[in-house]
Amino acid sequence: MADLPGMTRYWHPFADMGAVDASGELAIVRGEGAYVFDAVGKRYFDATAGLWYCNVGHGRSEIADAAARQMRDIAAYNNYGDLTTPAATELAERVSALAPVPASRVFFVSGGSDAIDSAGKLARRYWYELGKPEKTVLLSRRNAYHGVNGFGTSIGGIEANREGYGPLLESAQVDWDSPSALDETIRRLGEDRVAAFFCEPVIGAGGILPPPDGYLAEVRRICRDRNVLFVADEVITGFGRCGHWFASERFGLDPDLLTCAKGITSGYVPLGALVISPRVAEPFLRPGVMWRHGYTYSGHAAACAAALANLDILEREGLIGRAAELEHDLVAALEPLAGHSLVREVRGGTGVLAAVAFVDGDHALPARTLAALRRLGVLSRLLADGALQISPSFVSTRADLDALADAIAAAVEVAAGEHR
Ligand SMILES: Cc1ncc(COP(=O)(O)O)c(C=O)c1O
Repeated sequence: MADLPGMTRYWHPFADMGAVDASGELAIVRGEGAYVFDAVGKRYFDATAGLWYCNVGHGRSEIADAAARQMRDIAAYNNYGDLTTPAATELAERVSALAPVPASRVFFVSGGSDAIDSAGKLARRYWYELGKPEKTVLLSRRNAYHGVNGFGTSIGGIEANREGYGPLLESAQVDWDSPSALDETIRRLGEDRVAAFFCEPVIGAGGILPPPDGYLAEVRRICRDRNVLFVADEVITGFGRCGHWFASERFGLDPDLLTCAKGITSGYVPLGALVISPRVAEPFLRPGVMWRHGYTYSGHAAACAAALANLDILEREGLIGRAAELEHDLVAALEPLAGHSLVREVRGGTGVLAAVAFVDGDHALPARTLAALRRLGVLSRLLADGALQISPSFVSTRADLDALADAIAAAVEVAAGEHR
């Protein structure tokens, strides 16, 4: 087939490549705080903090300098066996101290999907080491997003992301808001078959669904009572997005395993981590036992150096507390939109996380609104149900959020007008 005029060699993630070829790419060339710029200098409010990751905002030369310094010394070295770099060891100490998992160990990976697959493997292997090799089934929630690797695809709660791959791993999805659905599923499958329950404290890509009151405490209790490991997927909520270092702290979750990524470096360099409780670590510390798992870039020194500089900024500038304030600012700024005739609902209220869902009836309305927003100087994206994702960086101001709400109201009017 002949190349189309606008065709790119770059196959974009989660992209309708036919549409990209037809309409072209938007290249972002620079970022500054809560804003990014394209190649012709047009400024956009970054309503999504990249992809839920840029907690400290763009253009922080302190992070670039830390990574560059580390690269000049040594960019990375294999961390298998007894090898490490000071940056990896220091970051593990720091993440372990920040995470609400006392005496935890920290296993580094390259992103959220790796963290999830590592958690799935470790959970199953844990039960194997305890003489219960039949405890292999992984549970998760409908609408959940746990990345795109093998385990993450298998336990994903967004059906479209699982389709077309043939048999996946053994898993079951339960209603996202119902502790009794989890309890019944564990009973049906049998406690002796279920390894772990994966849970985003606030469902992110599946639509920004904050936990119903009491939900998290109840599912945590069920997992404890039924001897099922509780895995908090904090890839989005970790490093401040819910106004605490981790949402597990806010909700008292005491997870057996905790996955994180994104905000650990604010996205300056890819990095993820699996925080492992002493309970899960214990069988692997026995003589002769070894977890045969690891990635080339586990504990990549330059990534860890960037993370340390990012944590310094979060601490020094009090950005976790700022995120707690922004949670309220975001609700207040978006509130007027809930009364708009073209808006079905505004979801949020837990963390710097919100979604604006549009009325049904016109399937193209969300996409047209997104395009209009872009013209108005706001970059966002659509979540699984077509709602707009709002998850800005912690350096955003109340004025930024008010302007964002105004832009959304204007964009949806423009989009509706295009249809008439
Ligand atoms: C809750 C959650 N888990 C896992 C992932 C996968 O992370 P990554 O895209 O870094 O592989 C994501 C990504 O958005 C996520 O939101």
